[in-house]
Amino acid sequence: MKLLLTGGAGFIGSNFVHYLLKAHPDWEIFNLDKLTYAGNLENLKDVAGHPRYHFIHGDIAGAVLVERLFSDYRFDLVANLAAESHVDRSIMDAAPFIDANIKGTQVFLDAARRHGVRKFLQVSTDEVYGSLGFSDPPFMEETPLDPSSPYSASKASADLLARAYHRTHGLPVVISRCSNNYGPYQFPEKFIPTIITNVLADKPVPIYGDGLNVRDWIYVEDHCRALDLILTGGRPGEVYNIGARQERSNLDLARSILRILDKPEDLLTFVKDRPGHDRRYAIEPAKIEKELGWRPAASFDECLERTVRWYVDNRPWWERVKSGEYREFAKKWYGEE
Ligand code: NAD
Ligand code: DAU
Repeated sequence: MKLLLTGGAGFIGSNFVHYLLKAHPDWEIFNLDKLTYAGNLENLKDVAGHPRYHFIHGDIAGAVLVERLFSDYRFDLVANLAAESHVDRSIMDAAPFIDANIKGTQVFLDAARRHGVRKFLQVSTDEVYGSLGFSDPPFMEETPLDPSSPYSASKASADLLARAYHRTHGLPVVISRCSNNYGPYQFPEKFIPTIITNVLADKPVPIYGDGLNVRDWIYVEDHCRALDLILTGGRPGEVYNIGARQERSNLDLARSILRILDKPEDLLTFVKDRPGHDRRYAIEPAKIEKELGWRPAASFDECLERTVRWYVDNRPWWERVKSGEYREFAKKWYGEE
């Protein structure tokens, strides 16, 4: 089986490459990645010479390259993870989100349609459903799309295109919508690695607004196992929500990490809120549990400790990442000199 995966040098993508090479000893994995600021081949250095793994440097929105890849390699499966993924960046500049998340998905869908694939997995997000109130029921697959940020609007657009290619062209598309991931190799602009790396450097942890926004957290390896099940067993035309039923307010989560690292609460610093900040996400995963037998493998507390330990043990990885392009973005976002 030949799988073309996009965005494999990012956080979830690199975890997914590692996962798939172990889970499927007979699969060949092709990883197409543009290596934006978020793509980091260091995440994949242990598989660089693997006989069943191939890296291709390129843009998913580059129609000529994508057409050549599909015609040269005749892929059986596609998993489209490549995206601009950070909400705050989409608030500062939406343009790259339109190019990668919408245009890139259309180019890929067209190539898959021309060449035929057994399954096209569009990796989406619970953010397409918008924001919940504290007492609302969780997002279901049927919940209407109501995105708030340019990022989530671009992901919702990609979902609609993917669904349209199924309905119009019969492309065997499946869409996954997962909640907030955490784990190794997450770029330290996202909340959990921001908390851990700032605390390890004894720097203040920025808490947006009142800190009471709620996210539903899932360990990245559980997400990867769900994606694998959907690729192999998901029904074309269907949407599968993925989540581990682990809602936490941002303040509670930050306090848990401070406790693990034995650091004082006065590192928490309230800062200006994110414009259009979604109040709460909560995802109902009953469909994937029932249809595909998916379950998270370990508890939230255990996975959070494991994640904190990874950042403690891999300080050179995040120090290198944080010393580069991220610093330029952070300067603009926080208005620092
Ligand atoms: P990430 O930002 O860590 O990685 C994105 C990767 O895509 C990078 O390697 C980058 O170089 C690559 N990329 C970006 N634009 C590209 C382009 N035009 N062509 C080729 N490669 C390109 O993102 P992530 O957090 O790993 O998210 C991966 C996917 O999962 C995204 O589609 C995201 O929307 C989705 N998702 C993320 C989460 C989460 O909590 N992080 C949750 C649900 C869904
Ligand atoms: O829900 C899935 C989504 O989760 C993915 O689709 C996105 O790609 C991913 O970035 C993530 O989006 P969020 O906006 O929820 O994640 P982020 O880590 O940016 O923020 C999580 C929460 O923490 C959110 O309420 C904002 C808050 N926050 C974030 C940062 C970076 C802070 O309070 N301080 C911070 O410094």
